[in-house]
Amino acid sequence: MTANSSQPTRTLSNGTAIPVLGLGVWQVDDGQECERAVAWALETGYRLIDTAQAYGNEASVGKAIRESGVPREEIFLTTKFYPGGKDARVEAEKSLQRLGTDYLDLYLIHWPQGGPTWAWPGMEAAVEAGLTKGIGVSNFSAAEIAELGKVARIQPVVNQVLFSPFDYRRALLEASEAANIVLQAYSPLGTGRHLGDPAVARVAESVGRTPAQVLIRWAIQKGLSVIPKSTHQNRIKENFDVFGFELDDAAVAALDALDTTNQTAEALSRSGKWWS
Ligand code: A2P
Repeated sequence: MTANSSQPTRTLSNGTAIPVLGLGVWQVDDGQECERAVAWALETGYRLIDTAQAYGNEASVGKAIRESGVPREEIFLTTKFYPGGKDARVEAEKSLQRLGTDYLDLYLIHWPQGGPTWAWPGMEAAVEAGLTKGIGVSNFSAAEIAELGKVARIQPVVNQVLFSPFDYRRALLEASEAANIVLQAYSPLGTGRHLGDPAVARVAESVGRTPAQVLIRWAIQKGLSVIPKSTHQNRIKENFDVFGFELDDAAVAALDALDTTNQTAEALSRSGKWWS
């Protein structure tokens, strides 16, 4: 039995609805670990699964989706073009083969290696060939989004970035919204680092929730789609149980104050540009 999958979504500029909460599988091993995490997530009610060519686990994601019994069209499936490759359309076809499905809901350029625009014609070709419904970017700054927007025939619908109260890229969020791009948060728990923070713990205690639930809820209330990662069934469930409470203004302000990015419009710190 799968759980009731009705959950909040945001409508992207191409008209498709993206769930505000999904499972991210960065740093999840291909094989049983990944298959089980995706199976548990779908069983819990998740309907957004986020993988990437660079993660090396697309085959396991696809297998778990097929074996879940959840109809493909009920699932929002994202993968990402590895920008060390040459042709985004050709690589999308290879992803579809590994995933064992005939379309993506979203295909992102994983990071702006070589500049923000060169790969975009291949991304647009993937849409035109029916390989994906939407295309977008990841780790793009406000300036990079603006540069891409000038040459794009098909506009990006999502920008996926490192985002949490500690990485509150407020100017990037505002620029993305202004460009009709939904910002999506990866590592909303700081890859686990933020879960032990005393300020987060205080908010968690005040609302009777766990630190993970508070961090996820904060990003949802900021209007983002959020993709926490876990390979544990109890945590996958805990992270999904965020629709029955709300952070009030004081709690949101306490979390906002944790920002270390100075409300930046950048997607990454200078030292974070791992490909250059
Ligand atoms: P694990 O996969 O072993 O459950 P992020 O989404 O920010 O990248 O964070 C992922 C990290 O946080 C992983 O190490 C994951 O561990 C851990 N994690 C995910 N959800 C929870 C939770 N509810 N409680 C504690 N740790 C969690």
